[in-house]
Amino acid sequence: MLFKLTDEQLMIQNMVREFSRKVVGATAAERDKTKEFPAENFKQMGELGLMGMMIPVDYGGEEADAVSYVLALSEIAYSCASTSVVMSVQNSIVCESLYRFGTEDQKQEFLVPLASGEMIGAFGLTEPEAGSDPVSQTATAVRDKDTYVINGTKRFITSGQNSGLVLVTAKTDEGTAHRGISCFIVPKGTPGLIVGRTEDKMGLRASDTTDLIFEDCRVPASNRLGKEGDGFKIAMSGLDSGRIGIAAQSLGVAQAAFDAAVKYAKKRRQFGVPIAKHQAIRFQIADMATQIEAARQLVFSAASMKDRGEAYTREASMAKLFASEMVNQVTARAIQIHGGYGFTKDYDVERFYRDARVFTIYEGTSEIQRIVISNNILRDKRKL
Ligand code: CAA
Repeated sequence: MLFKLTDEQLMIQNMVREFSRKVVGATAAERDKTKEFPAENFKQMGELGLMGMMIPVDYGGEEADAVSYVLALSEIAYSCASTSVVMSVQNSIVCESLYRFGTEDQKQEFLVPLASGEMIGAFGLTEPEAGSDPVSQTATAVRDKDTYVINGTKRFITSGQNSGLVLVTAKTDEGTAHRGISCFIVPKGTPGLIVGRTEDKMGLRASDTTDLIFEDCRVPASNRLGKEGDGFKIAMSGLDSGRIGIAAQSLGVAQAAFDAAVKYAKKRRQFGVPIAKHQAIRFQIADMATQIEAARQLVFSAASMKDRGEAYTREASMAKLFASEMVNQVTARAIQIHGGYGFTKDYDVERFYRDARVFTIYEGTSEIQRIVISNNILRDKRKL
């Protein structure tokens, strides 16, 4: 491995690996069937410092670096992708946005319970008619004295049901494209915030994905995050960090599928020998290992750039693009190696394949990542 992890990073990796395989993994297959949200696991993850890892200790976090965070997130994803997506949204686009753009009062009131894991957070950007193009969103927030009144519908919201608050974007100025979008902190229980339908998904079934409907939902003006017009910037910079998280998730699921495939290939016998002796299978294993290692380097590289305070938008998108495409190939190959058994629910690779499918879609599709990367190359002076 090119990256040499520090003792502290290795310690975090080992601690999370042990917890993840023992606790999170124990019920992952069952929760895929029942769709039960692993609330108890999140409580323990909060106690372990995994719900606001990169947030300073003063605000309830662990003050870990981004490399430690991707190591931890990969380990959680190895056992349960549903659990890891909640952890990813919480750490990046929710906690980091509050930390970066929040006032001291907002941090004390909202960030501390989130980063310490007492509360789960959600982020509402996407709408029924505005996915890849969030600038065309139609939710509005109208100033009324010391309040804003929010109206609109947000779709595909991770933890829409199980969150204690949502950061939501809405237009405060119709005519100014992305500069007219602002962001608001809306605690659950605020009159006018309604949890709509829950999606019945192909994968990530233990993580709830819902509509959030805002009907004359009134919040104090002091709940605006950042300045009026900062909403798009808050979402985009949160997604930079979020995209490293989805890449780390991809690594974790790919590693799990790979380990399962190798184990199966050594055990399964055909033509008188374990199938791992056949070149057709050995070459698949070699390709999978190479793909995973290449993705790992991109993920660590983007996380290290973030740790050094460098611009990392392009590298986060590269890591997300490559790793999410990679995990779709690796999980498909893992099923192929399992043959007919891989197509049944008796083997975890079936769940891995379904869970991974959305990784090339959410937090920006592969097509959007290519737009971000090419924009950066063509507009940026920074050389590749
Ligand atoms: N950080 C900070 N600001 C940024 C930024 C970043 N990474 N990227 C862009 N901006 C700013 C720019 O500086 C610019 O601001 P100014 O005009 O004030 O200078 C503004 O945003 C517009 O930038 P661009 O012109 O580059 O934007 P664009 O319109 O060309 O492209 C896009 C935008 C890349 C297509 C963007 O709309 C995008 O990423 N779309 C995908 C949305 C997405 O990922 N949705 C996922 C939903 S969330 C989710 O899935 C979470 C979940 O629950 C799992």
